[in-house]
Amino acid sequence: MRDRVLDELLNEGILLDPEAAELVLAQADPAAYVRSILASMTQHPLVLTADHVRAYSSIHPSAIPKVQVNPVLEELRKSPSVMARPKSSDIEIIHDITGNSTCEGTVNDFARCFNDRFKKIKKILSRRHELAGSLPVAKAVKYDREVRTIGMVSDWHNTKNGHKIIELEDDEGKCTVLIHKDSEYINESIVNDEVIGIVGKSTSKGDLLVLKELIRPDIPITNVMEQSDSTSSVAFMSDVHVGSNTFLHTEWNNMMHWLKTEGKDEIQYLVLPGDVVDGIGVFPGQEEELEIEDVFEQYRTLEELLKEVPDSIQILIQPGNHDAVRPAEPQPTFPKIISEIFDSSCMLIGNPCTMKLEGRRILTYHGRSLDDWISSVQGLTYENPLETMNEMLKRRHMAPLYGGKTPLAPEKEDHLVIDEIPDIFVTGHIHGAGIGMYKGVTTICASTWQSQTSFQKMHNFSPDPAILPVVHLGTGKAKIVDFS
Ligand SMILES: [Fe+2]
Repeated sequence: MRDRVLDELLNEGILLDPEAAELVLAQADPAAYVRSILASMTQHPLVLTADHVRAYSSIHPSAIPKVQVNPVLEELRKSPSVMARPKSSDIEIIHDITGNSTCEGTVNDFARCFNDRFKKIKKILSRRHELAGSLPVAKAVKYDREVRTIGMVSDWHNTKNGHKIIELEDDEGKCTVLIHKDSEYINESIVNDEVIGIVGKSTSKGDLLVLKELIRPDIPITNVMEQSDSTSSVAFMSDVHVGSNTFLHTEWNNMMHWLKTEGKDEIQYLVLPGDVVDGIGVFPGQEEELEIEDVFEQYRTLEELLKEVPDSIQILIQPGNHDAVRPAEPQPTFPKIISEIFDSSCMLIGNPCTMKLEGRRILTYHGRSLDDWISSVQGLTYENPLETMNEMLKRRHMAPLYGGKTPLAPEKEDHLVIDEIPDIFVTGHIHGAGIGMYKGVTTICASTWQSQTSFQKMHNFSPDPAILPVVHLGTGKAKIVDFS
């Protein structure tokens, strides 16, 4: 329904920012609701924002969105986050927004963030020999010879003749690129706001660059995970969803028994990549699916459950979209009032977070953007999240698509660019499980500890719960320990 409503509004020239879209879509008749907001305004804004929606609903109380923002949660989400110190000196946090957020969401912030994305990915692409001597996009189209250029995709479409047109921009100008229907690249999926390299030749009129080669920043084929002398292993445990009535108590207890016995000597680090509790007010009607209705109690219960983890294991906890932190990515870690619930065996980190465990570089990202990738790129499915993670690595960006389900905070730096190549890349969120390898990077989808929810049932999706992926930090060997 979401897409149909947004398309209908777009056809009428009405644009909504992502937060406004969420508020509006909670209404019984979202399109009619937007029209009444606009009718109440003397001048129509270019983009309808969440502030416009809230201002309207404060004057028209009967029209307050059905998904009420919980005041406790709202307060929590605004309070500053605190990152606890690691107890082990073998943990190094390389990249994390916690304590460094500066964005106010202005147009300038967005421009600066996109500019940073462009610069970082252009730097990666510029190292490719195929793109040596690349020209600014507007200049490239003027040359009557084969040229190379690097730009950000501002838009694209398929033509009725079967060709593909890409609008490309850089910090100096723009140009139009044509992928001919007979080109080997015609079926390449293009994503708005991704940064790509083009080898091509201008048409005789000099207004269109015809693509010969499409180059993505990607991971070099020479990339390998070097062995180290570490003897430690790390386990990943995503989407625990404590507080939900579908939390898998028996499977959790079996896993905990394993951690305290067989796993005790093997596992030194336990990473929880987000949605550690089910939260409150995350989706309409959630209260009917909660076993614990108080968000603090959910975190206290999680802490109780984690107390069972042997002391020798360092726990790292990251937030996801169900957690009590700001929803916009990058997400800083938990506020003090929640971090105080956890003892020193738990280190709280942001989302995404790049860290080194005993020298091994790990990128852990909850994975909200998987929804947007899957709905936008043909061939990507909920059944194969590792394939979507490969697309992220190929484009060196976790969430290039702006305006989808993933709210993005325009920080002065784009924290979702994958500028350094990780040894291990982990996501969760969609409750799938698996281990893969993409050009020397171990990819992990870190399961869930919740059985099928009513929402998943409605969408005919079967999760892969109670699976614990484990990676040896020395050899890089990965395995699954199955408690399902
Ligand atoms: Fe999630």
